[in-house]
Amino acid sequence: MPAAKFVKESTTIMTEMVMPNDTNTLGNLYGGNLMRMMDVAAAIAAQKHSNRIVVTASVDNVSFVNPIPLGHVVTLEAKITRAFNTSMEVIVEVYSENIPAGTKTKTNQAFLTFVAVDQSGRPIEIAEAIPETEKEKELFDHALQRRQLRLVLAGRMKPQDASELKTIFNA
Ligand SMILES: CC(C)(COP(=O)(O)OP(=O)(O)OC[C@H]1O[C@@H](n2cnc3c(N)ncnc32)[C@H](O)[C@@H]1OP(=O)(O)O)[C@@H](O)C(=O)NCCC(=O)NCCS
Repeated sequence: MPAAKFVKESTTIMTEMVMPNDTNTLGNLYGGNLMRMMDVAAAIAAQKHSNRIVVTASVDNVSFVNPIPLGHVVTLEAKITRAFNTSMEVIVEVYSENIPAGTKTKTNQAFLTFVAVDQSGRPIEIAEAIPETEKEKELFDHALQRRQLRLVLAGRMKPQDASELKTIFNA
């Protein structure tokens, strides 16, 4: 197995300004554009962690809490929460900043799962990710529950095998 890496080693910050072409008819960032940015930021973090080609295996639910208006600066912070065998969970947190007004608000977040693959597209083993901060440790601790939930919902794990979700499925 490749040598473990700290979460901070692959943390990725991506910044972009919302331009007219990116907006919906209300003048806010179009949701599909934001999802694309989230996928790209998370993929970069996953590549940095694994030093491999990565493919998106899943995106957990994305809620758009606050709109991001034209002219605002979008900042996406992508971090590995936990690496498993060939897959890793990445959290992307999105902020909207009005620089002239001096305001910055969190607009949404999502968990994405990437799988590292070889040149033929076959999954390949990756390094462990070591959390350091309290927040990183908390994200790490709950990642197994989220993984089992998404695998059950994707039909890739039987509910009875979801050891971390006994209270939901096996009560
Ligand atoms: C993701 C993919 C590589 C998995 O391949 P597979 O042959 O099913 O491989 P496996 O069953 O060995 O699973 C490999 C890993 O993917 C994870 N995985 C598979 N489907 C998943 C899903 N829906 N959600 C989360 N993780 C998933 C497995 O849990 C496993 O993780 P682990 O090794 O850390 O335990 C394959 O389904 C694929 O290539 N999908 C298309 C990806 C794509 O084109 N994405 C969009 C463009 S980038």
